[in-house]
Amino acid sequence: MITHDILIVGGGLTGLRAAVGLCDKYNVGLISKVYPLRSHSIAAQGGINASLANNPEGRDDTWEKHTFDTVKGSDYLGDQNAIEIMCKEAPKIVYEMEHWGCPFSRFPDGTIAQRPFGGGGFPRTCFSTDITGHSLLNTLYERAVYKNVKIYPEWFVTGLCVENGQCHGVIVLDIHSGELIPVRAKVTVFGTGGYGRVYRNSTNALINTGSGIGMAYKAGVGLKDMEFVQFHPTTLIGTNILMTEGCRGEGGYLFNNKGERFMKSYVPTAMELAPRDIVSRCIQTEINEGRGFDHPLGKYIQLDLRHLGEKKILERLPGIHSICIDFIGIDPVKEPIPIMPSQHYSMGGIDVNEKGASEIKGFYAAGECACVSVHGANRLGGNSLLDTIVFGKLTAQAIDKELSEHDLKPEENYLLKLEENVEKKINRLTKPGGERPYKLAADLGAVMSEKVGIFRTKDELAQALDEVTKIKERYRNVSVSSTDKHMNYELHNALELDYMLEVAHTIVLGALLREESRGAHFRRDFDTRNDTNWLKHTIAKMGNDLEPVISYKDVVITRYQPMERKY
Ligand code: FUM
Repeated sequence: MITHDILIVGGGLTGLRAAVGLCDKYNVGLISKVYPLRSHSIAAQGGINASLANNPEGRDDTWEKHTFDTVKGSDYLGDQNAIEIMCKEAPKIVYEMEHWGCPFSRFPDGTIAQRPFGGGGFPRTCFSTDITGHSLLNTLYERAVYKNVKIYPEWFVTGLCVENGQCHGVIVLDIHSGELIPVRAKVTVFGTGGYGRVYRNSTNALINTGSGIGMAYKAGVGLKDMEFVQFHPTTLIGTNILMTEGCRGEGGYLFNNKGERFMKSYVPTAMELAPRDIVSRCIQTEINEGRGFDHPLGKYIQLDLRHLGEKKILERLPGIHSICIDFIGIDPVKEPIPIMPSQHYSMGGIDVNEKGASEIKGFYAAGECACVSVHGANRLGGNSLLDTIVFGKLTAQAIDKELSEHDLKPEENYLLKLEENVEKKINRLTKPGGERPYKLAADLGAVMSEKVGIFRTKDELAQALDEVTKIKERYRNVSVSSTDKHMNYELHNALELDYMLEVAHTIVLGALLREESRGAHFRRDFDTRNDTNWLKHTIAKMGNDLEPVISYKDVVITRYQPMERKY
């Protein structure tokens, strides 16, 4: 058994920032199922929002205006106390990252460059060309290495140990040796990322299975607002690789097959820079109504950057330029990019407050796996990187406060009991003869992409619920093809699939029950927002019969009463 004061699970921006904030004072361990620099934070492209007011067109930007844009973008489901905290912290966080060495792009006067992003009233998205996540992650990783944070790479957490309302640590599978290792900690923090791979079409890395979210749920922690799933408007046809909102922030256009900049007939004021829930619906509508282009890989819309010119494309969007050439053989300097919307972000997640604290003593979560909620029903582009670092930092501060006020005593016995259960599960999964896990994962992805997508209806959601339930039944008879202990990725996938199925179940059920349209959750059969009945957070908990039990919780409103949201 390994023991730490504080155990952080996840090597992305959230986990690293929390570790850096705690390691001077506590014995911190950081577990990551991949090498930290392979975490999905690395894939974030367009930028991080902060009201620095560096852009000549955004000189009177303030954190209050950032707060208002975020509240409105969330379709009033975000908790306004938490949004205020995030937006007030944003400039400090960006300057801290700058001082730690993050190579932000610059304006000619040397200040950090800022571009417009969808739904932002001001050009407040700070960026490092189109590899902002890469630059931030490398900066924080260097900081963590410099501070000697103890990192366990390629360790996969298989279960969260919660007993008597307290968290005692986790059971880890060392991917190399195949050994199970109990890790005891006074405080466990999850920064385990989103669940994009519950969907077939997603911009997310294959590691984004949502297993951390599912693990917390199975340990009895509540999940919040799981039905709110973000679909990014512009992803490369076929692979669904992200084509950053920065493309439109830099001035890119969207065209249908009639050569029209169709956004003018939906949102003429904001055009391509409307919030992404709206732009995704507009693109999908153009495709559904026959105004998309045909491609062997599916229907698409054009994202046209040609008028920006080669110099600007290479300077501001070099990653997009090379991804298009490498993955689809298109040079965006010369040709429009074929795009379609696909799953991108998890607004919902582990129910925590603005300090990252869950209702379980000693268990915290932050970043995409958590729902504070600062994004409500629709996250603004550029607020995700911000969320990870701000709440990584604030969670660390809250943990320090908690531990300096009272000590927590995690118990070894509970961990050993959980280890035994994990071992039994692995024995069952490695018995030959069952169905292979990849088949179930493929079926799950198809159901979620086809029936729980941008546009939803009662009938399709009910079918999805039925299908997810059936896949859960099939899971009881899953087995992997090899009993090898060393690097047995099929076994890891099978273990993660269990959590993915629970996550999917809560998404579908929340979506079926929420009879309104708000942000990214659009019901064709209830196509308007209904504040009278639905201005509330959904909470999903696992019941005694192992089925989700849904309840609701008030939204925190401080300054901004809900108004009609045109864009
Ligand atoms: O489009 C993008 O670059 C994505 C940004 C985000 O999700 O915040």
